[in-house]
Amino acid sequence: MMKQTQMWTHIFVIFFTLQSQCSACKWLDRYSTLAKESLNLLEEMGGQYPENVRVPFPGSLYNLTEQAEVEDKVKFLILTSDHIISLMDATKHSVEWNTRTLQYFLKVLHRQSTELKECEDPYQKRPYKESYKKRINRHFRTLRKILKKEKYSAQAWQKIRRAVKTHLQRMNIIANSAKSSV
Ligand SMILES: *[C@@H]1O[C@H](CO)[C@@H](O)[C@H](O)[C@H]1NC(C)=O
Repeated sequence: MMKQTQMWTHIFVIFFTLQSQCSACKWLDRYSTLAKESLNLLEEMGGQYPENVRVPFPGSLYNLTEQAEVEDKVKFLILTSDHIISLMDATKHSVEWNTRTLQYFLKVLHRQSTELKECEDPYQKRPYKESYKKRINRHFRTLRKILKKEKYSAQAWQKIRRAVKTHLQRMNIIANSAKSSV
């Protein structure tokens, strides 16, 4: 069960960031607050992360993105956030997860994605690299295949949750590097 104080912290974070909407790209400064919050929620919703699970992860793509232009970083973060949202916002989510915490988690990610989209506006002109987009899409398809193959079991979902954790951590590094270059 989520404690009352924790719940208020989540609500506070969601509304606090909602208020600061007008400052478009300045928002990158607050990314790490939300990133920390989403990681906390991810941990809370499903308890301990399993040890020694092997899940596919696009590490080299993250490495490339870390070296990319700020506009590509922002586009990468939007694409990845939206993939995580649609992956986790599943009716067949793990039976072991706290549904309420999952809902908060999704809200925080939505906020992240919406704010990033505002941030993207000044960069609309150049399209995101097709090859990067394909690789990210393919990665999330692979994760979905794992779920399907393992019949959406609690164990399969733990693998997905583990992968999402690594995504959120690496995304935060990318957001921080984007912030320092604007
Ligand atoms: C990404 O970069 C790190 C450090 O630069 C390196 O250790 C790692 O092997 C790279 N990962 C991939 C998958 O290329």
